[in-house]
Amino acid sequence: MESKESMPLLTPHKLSPSLSLSHRIILAPLTRKRAYGNIPQPHQATYYAQRATAGGLLLTEATGVSDTAQGYHDTPGIWTAEQVDAWRPVVDAVHAKGAAIFCQIWHAGRVSAFEFQPGGKAPVSSTAKGVSPQMSVDGRLEEFSPPRKLEVDEIPAIVDDFRKAARNAIDAGFDGVEIHSAYGYLIEQFLKDSSNDRNDEYGGTLENRCRFAMEVVDAVVKEIGGDRVGIRLSPFADYMDCHDSDPHALALYMSTKLNDHGVVYLHMIEPRMAMVEGRRVVPKRLLPYREAFKGAFIANGGYDMEEGNKAVDEGYTDLVAFGRLFLANPDLPRRFEVGAELNKYDRMTFYTSDPVVGYTDYQFLLE
Ligand SMILES: Cc1cc2nc3c(=O)[nH]c(=O)nc-3n(C[C@H](O)[C@H](O)[C@H](O)COP(=O)(O)O)c2cc1C
Repeated sequence: MESKESMPLLTPHKLSPSLSLSHRIILAPLTRKRAYGNIPQPHQATYYAQRATAGGLLLTEATGVSDTAQGYHDTPGIWTAEQVDAWRPVVDAVHAKGAAIFCQIWHAGRVSAFEFQPGGKAPVSSTAKGVSPQMSVDGRLEEFSPPRKLEVDEIPAIVDDFRKAARNAIDAGFDGVEIHSAYGYLIEQFLKDSSNDRNDEYGGTLENRCRFAMEVVDAVVKEIGGDRVGIRLSPFADYMDCHDSDPHALALYMSTKLNDHGVVYLHMIEPRMAMVEGRRVVPKRLLPYREAFKGAFIANGGYDMEEGNKAVDEGYTDLVAFGRLFLANPDLPRRFEVGAELNKYDRMTFYTSDPVVGYTDYQFLLE
């Protein structure tokens, strides 16, 4: 068994005055498309509880803030009383294991289609430019409907949807929310210059492109308090046709500006992994943003135990989020602790709807 001294990921970290973590292995947000009809299901309680440990922190899958926020079938929402009620047993099951859980609140923007929109209307976005068809993990071509560019006077209502979703999350018992501002969805559509072609106060300069994100942060922090608000950014990603001509400037601006709003953590995704001497390594390009931001930092993207330990040990990050490894290994912290082999993830069942297969049937260690 590894000693804790050689295992920086297994050391405690005080995230906020009211939230002390006993280790630094965070469950990354993972959409699983098993919330039938956008309502959280009992099998989600099983799934999250499987990944909960005393003093751990879990982040939920992307969760819609309104009826215009959805872009896929069977992703959960948090805008109706029924959804809030259905989240409660999920949160309770996680708390019963001693872990904390933040709800990732999300608006898909143009990554949507008429069929997911109320009245079959066009999805809304920063732009009227559509997303090109994307290849899904099972080899199908996913197509999106042409979006409608939001008018300036419509934006406050969307900001308010995030505020209400955050309040609903607290009512459901969540310990906080993560504002999903990554991977090509609505907030990132505003942030990046490939998808923001506006010439009003929400487009053009960096400050203007970040205005919508900052208004959401501001509204959510005022509603539930900064200690309960984190934000996720992927400045270097190009997912869903969202990329920026100067990701460094964007990331630095956001990390610095966020200090004025008192959010508890900044969660950032690494650029794609690089090959160095035939081995895949995490590029570790986020240090300037970690240094600019005064709160806690969560790094994500391609980490394994060794890279995660190194990153914490070097002071590169406070916490590390694990996506695919945690998906396939419900007892990931324990496996790291004892140096056990890991289950392999099956990407073909990432988004299938079975409540068990590829979801809650990944094996625990036999001890
Ligand atoms: C099946 C699957 C679903 C995902 N869903 C979300 C999501 O809902 N929200 C989000 O911010 N990222 C989502 N991601 C991205 C992950 O959170 C993470 O950034 C990515 O998997 C890289 O981390 P990893 O190398 O540890 O897996 C998803 C990734 C996968 C594989």
